[in-house]
Amino acid sequence: MRILSVVGARPNFMKIAPIVSELRRVSDVSHRLVHTGQHYDDKLSGTFFEELGLPEPDLNLQVGSGSHTWQTAEVMKGLEPVLEEFRPGLVFVVGDVNSTLAATLTAVKLGIPVAHIEAGLRSFDLTMPEEINRKVTDTISELLFVTEQSGVDNLRAEGVSEDRIFLVGNVMIDTLLRHRAIAAKSRILEKLGVKEGEHVLPYGVLTLHRPSNVDQPETLEPLLQAMGELAQEIPVFFPIHPRTMTRVRDLNLDHYFVGSRKGSLTGLQALDPLGYLDFLCLMDHSRVVLTDSGGIQEETTALGVPCLTLRNNTERPATVEHGSNQIIGVNPTRIVSAGRHILRNWSRSSRRPPLWDGHAARRIVEVVLQKRFFGSAHRCQEQSSSEQLV
Ligand code: UD1
Repeated sequence: MRILSVVGARPNFMKIAPIVSELRRVSDVSHRLVHTGQHYDDKLSGTFFEELGLPEPDLNLQVGSGSHTWQTAEVMKGLEPVLEEFRPGLVFVVGDVNSTLAATLTAVKLGIPVAHIEAGLRSFDLTMPEEINRKVTDTISELLFVTEQSGVDNLRAEGVSEDRIFLVGNVMIDTLLRHRAIAAKSRILEKLGVKEGEHVLPYGVLTLHRPSNVDQPETLEPLLQAMGELAQEIPVFFPIHPRTMTRVRDLNLDHYFVGSRKGSLTGLQALDPLGYLDFLCLMDHSRVVLTDSGGIQEETTALGVPCLTLRNNTERPATVEHGSNQIIGVNPTRIVSAGRHILRNWSRSSRRPPLWDGHAARRIVEVVLQKRFFGSAHRCQEQSSSEQLV
């Protein structure tokens, strides 16, 4: 049984890691991992492979950055001969980045079935590139592995047949639970001057990278101003995505940062992108996380750390319903007031969505093995129909 998995951008690596480790335990599966090269900086890619114990990819297509169309096309052109040569019985794709969409299109056009991990999520906002990627990927994928009930409901509402939908939990949380104890040994808190002996001083964490938040100065500047205001009370650490850093520099907005002075007890402190373990440790001890990332909404929910999502919607409503997330939008006054409210009434949540228990990857691989996708022909052949997990 031949399986090929495709990853491309930072959040993909945490999602594929537990799948790779489950597949390694199955003797009759030959697995190949392809990295599209959508993310190529060591800080967004190589570090994650090392820290998550992922094997070197069998192939890196090295597509790099470009417009959405260009990037999608480059992945498709690079992947097609690889799929033709290896002829997998199934292709795994994860998440909602351009590489996810491109890999799905390429495989399905060759008649190879695709399993989409993290299917069914919807923000209902087609201005988000990820929403387009999610919808197309789900429409043409054969197996849809879903993290939360809203995903099942969305797919049913779109008319997807029940035998394609599997509610299995969250592979990103598998990875988090597996690495939390290792991350606790990170020295990042000492490096940032917020740990004295066993005592951790209060601080916040900010991440921003959505084009809707960082590409326009009229949104980005008020957001940084609001963070500066909140950071008058506690230091707010801001590991900056390269896309955001470029905008900050172009717009001369770096005066909002106080710099990463060790021991500075307040201020918005810009940092380079962090590795997985340092960032997990930083989130786990944080009083509040402010973010526009989808994955971080889920990770803070699993950690029980209060999260303010700087967007007007979420495709992950379980993090609000069953977790520690609030959708706060981008109004600066509202953000500062919600942040202060959390600091004054701080508590760690112990709620977690159903099935976010560290075993999602095992459930996914079980379904795939029951379905038996064989790689000798391009068309999928189902030997037996498995029980649905929905
Ligand atoms: C991509 C995903 C987004 C995901 C995010 C996680 C799409 C449409 N977007 O956004 O869903 O949340 O990854 O980080 O797929 N760059 C570097 N080094 C790199 C990669 C990118 O400096 O290794 C810079 C380049 O200037 C590039 C820009 O970041 O143009 C944006 O990169 P890109 O991969 O296009 O999108 P992200 O914003 O990272």
